[in-house]
Formats: sequence, C-alpha cells, structure tokens
Amino acid sequence: MMLDIHSEKILILDFGSQYTQLIARRVREAHVYCELHPFDMGLDEIKAFGAKGIILSGGPKSVYEAEAPQIAEELFDLSVPVLGICYGMQLMSRHFGGQVIAAGKREYGHAELLAEGTPGPLFAGFFVDGVSPVWMSHGDHVETMPQGFETVAHTTNAPVCAIQNVAKNLYGVQFHPEVNHTPRGEQLLDTFVWQICGCHGLWTPGQIIEDAITRIREQVGVEEVILGLSGGVDSSVAAALIHRAIGDQLTCVFVDNGLLRLGEGDQVMTTFGESLGVKVIRVNAEERFLSKLTGEADPEKKRKIIGNLFVDIFEEESKKLANAKWLAQGTIYPDVIESAGAKTGKAHNIKSHHNVGGLPDYMTLKLLEPLREMFKDEVRAVGEELGLPHRMVWRHPFPGPGLGVRILGEVKKEYCDILRQADAIYIEELYARGHYDKISQAFAVFLPVKSVGVMGDGRTYEYVVALRAVETKDFMTAGWYQMPYEDLAHISGRIINEVKGINRVAYDISSKPPATIEWE
Ligand code: XMP
Repeated sequence: MMLDIHSEKILILDFGSQYTQLIARRVREAHVYCELHPFDMGLDEIKAFGAKGIILSGGPKSVYEAEAPQIAEELFDLSVPVLGICYGMQLMSRHFGGQVIAAGKREYGHAELLAEGTPGPLFAGFFVDGVSPVWMSHGDHVETMPQGFETVAHTTNAPVCAIQNVAKNLYGVQFHPEVNHTPRGEQLLDTFVWQICGCHGLWTPGQIIEDAITRIREQVGVEEVILGLSGGVDSSVAAALIHRAIGDQLTCVFVDNGLLRLGEGDQVMTTFGESLGVKVIRVNAEERFLSKLTGEADPEKKRKIIGNLFVDIFEEESKKLANAKWLAQGTIYPDVIESAGAKTGKAHNIKSHHNVGGLPDYMTLKLLEPLREMFKDEVRAVGEELGLPHRMVWRHPFPGPGLGVRILGEVKKEYCDILRQADAIYIEELYARGHYDKISQAFAVFLPVKSVGVMGDGRTYEYVVALRAVETKDFMTAGWYQMPYEDLAHISGRIINEVKGINRVAYDISSKPPATIEWE
C-alpha cells in the first residue's frame, strides 16, 4: 500500500522573515511536505499537526523587545526536532537561558562560518577545512550560551553562529541556509529533514498526483465539476489533474474574450479538447468584451469591465450546467499564504487585484482546489508529469485582463490584431534565440500614437509598439532584461516588416519600481 504523502510533514513557524517561503520551498525540494503557519500557533494545534520536525524562521524583531513575537515554548518539550534560523535560534537560546544582545556590528551579506569542536549530525559535511561560506542578515547575536547547548561555529563578528543540543535534537543557526548565497545550505536542510527528522522524501510529483486523484475522487464522488480554464499554468494543471481523477464529470468553460495572444484560443482547445479529451465549452465572447470596452480609456475601469463581464459569462455558462455541484479553481499555496497574511498588511494594492475580479459567491457550489498545497514549481512539475506540453507549463504569466491592459487607453479590435502579431513575433524570436526561459515575463505593448517613418520610397505614418522583458523572482520588484543589441535589431526589423500598422519599435528599460511590469 502507498504511504500517505502527508504522513511526514515539517511545520514552519513564521516570524516574518522575507525568506520564510524560501524555507518551505527548500523543504519541498527535499520532497517533504511542509506547511507555513504564523508564529503564534497554539500548542494544541501544533500537537495536532503532528510534525516530524519544526523550523522556526527568521524575523525582523529582536527577541528582547517587549513586543517580540513569542511561541508556545512547550514545543521544545515535544520530543520533536527543532531547527531555529536567525530569530528562531535567538528565541530558542533565550528559552534555554542564553543571552541575546544587539551586536556591535550588524552582519549582512557573505560571511565565513568557522567550526568549533565536532560538528554533530546536522553539520556533518557542512564545513570544509573548518570553514563554510554562509549568508547572514542580523543585528542581534547570542552572547552567552543556552543551557545544555554547545557552540558549533562562530564568525569573526559573532561569537555564536550555530548551536546544538544533540540529545534533544534542538539546533540553531544564525545564518540563512534557505538562500542560494549559502552554498551548502540546501544540504543542511536536507540533513535536517531526512537525517534528524527521519523523513523519507514522499512528496514527489508522481505521488502528489496519486494523492490528489484519491482526494478529488473522495471529495467529489459522482458529482459534476466546472472549471474556468484560462490557458494559464494553474487552471490548466488543475483541469488536467481533475480530469485524470474524474474524467467526464469535469466540464471546463473557456471564455475567449478576444484579448488573448495569437492563436491562444485554438491552442487551448487543441491541448485540452483534442489531446487530453477534456470536455471544454468555448465561449466566443470577443464582441461582447470589445463593445463593453468601447470608449473606456481608464486602466482600472477597463480591468473592472473585463473582470465583471468574465464573471457574468461564466455564471451564464454554469447555469446551463445545472448538475454541477463543484467549482474548481487553480488556487496555489502562495495564494493561500498571501490571503492568510493579508492581515499583516503585506498586501499591496497598486493595481486592482489580479485574478479577474474573483468569482461571485456561488452559494450552491462547493470549492475544489486541488493545487492548494503546491508551490508554482510543483504545479509545473505535476503539469509535465500529467503530459501537458512543456511550453504551456513554462509559459510566462499572462494577466487576466489580457491585451486589455497592454493596449494603452481605449481597446479596439484593430489594435488587438496588430498587437497579437507583434507579440507573437517577439515571443517566437525569444524562444529561437534562447532568451525565453531566462526571462520571467515578456510581451509587446501597443501605443496608440502614430509616428512618421519611411519605407521604400514612401512616407509612413503608423503606430508604435514597445517590447518589455523583465527578470524577477516575485514580481514585486523586477529588472529589465539586458537583451543583446543584435537580437533587438532582428526582432524590431521583423515586426516593422511583417506587421502592417507598425513602423516603430521601442524597448522598455524601466525597472519596477518605479515602473510596473505591465504598462497599465
Ligand atoms: P505589475 O504590472 O503590477 O504586474 O508590476 C505584476 C504581475 O502581475 C500581473 N498583472 C496582472 N495579473 N490581472 C492579472 O491576472 C491583472 O489585472 C494584472 N495586472 C498585472 C503582471 O502580468 C505581472 O506578472
């Protein structure tokens, strides 16, 4: 019998470090399931969670401040291995009687960790000739040792940078093993989850799929499910997964709003309808969208129009599927974390938010969210394992309002058609020239202004497109991609020669901030 992939899990308590999600991703990369929870999770909940190990994250506060985040300290008595990182280590040290003070010198960036004594099981192989390069980010350090612990390492600035109580399986590190700048950090986290916590690595794409299929079947039984397919990675993988579980009980609704990329509607129908045999209803709604958008130039109002109309159409279609009892969505784990974290004020609202206005309260429909526990990398791995085309799974994100926010000002069919062609040439060249996978997001933008040009013997007076390509980890900040001149020259030449209506191409060299990724 297959082992339950949730039978081994790591609990990560979050003290607000910018790296907490990275810890979770590293644990998942070690093929172990983990969940992130707020630092103040109650002891009973912690016990009920049944973790094989607990990781305490870093955080911006100082443990000696009056308002410093505290935990249910009895968790140190649960006989569950604990790894404290940065703030987590300081908290653990204080609990066991150590002293934490503001460091004379803040340590930020690369540092050399110097070993003391025998490294112990967590640190086996972590030092080479007594040294290990690490990434530090702290203003406090442990000054006097907690009881029962021994020092494993120090730096020239901080006397205690790694500690252990091997008998109790309690470990602390001042540095950040979860970031790439700590070269042997991944190895350390692997050792923690596998050796110290005794996990086996059950969380693999194949097993995630098996588990999801079982759960979908249990949840849904013989009932019917509808899903709004957008062509994006998340809804595509959700559709493929649910289809694998319940076949024809799933109906997808694909709303073609006329604001999609070149050939996208047909591609979605081919991939899902023909190759995978999924039931997909295509709603050709281009005219409805374009007529609602007529005369509207304001970006936020355009977003609302597109989002609301999508919801109306989706609702109309779902009413036709009277037997459907479930609404499936491609919600992924970072969405879950973000909405849980919204109360911490982290959410930003520069553009009205992102998932096409959200669906209305379907009082009668139950929610099915089979990707809720997965990070994006895992969604992609699952998608590939399910046989979705590589290009679909690795495609750059595309905003819900589509070309609606890539045509500045009023949206017209003529503009959409011109932009689609320019964008398709751009993306084709990025693939051909080996840039696509190095870029986080690339697209063309239509500028409804005309400029003068010359072609052959004639003067032209045509529109402008701008090309955007950014590199980013989280889409909150982004840098523009440094495209070689010869590639830009070739792409610009092709667009101007091949796309009627364009005689000028510009490359966007703005970072975010202060610019945003999309132009609207
Ligand atoms: P900005 O332009 O805010 O974009 O820097 C950050 C990321 O969000 C995407 N984006 C959207 N996605 N609906 C969406 O589904 C939207 O209205 C929307 N606006 C921006 C954008 O493509 C980028 O990936």
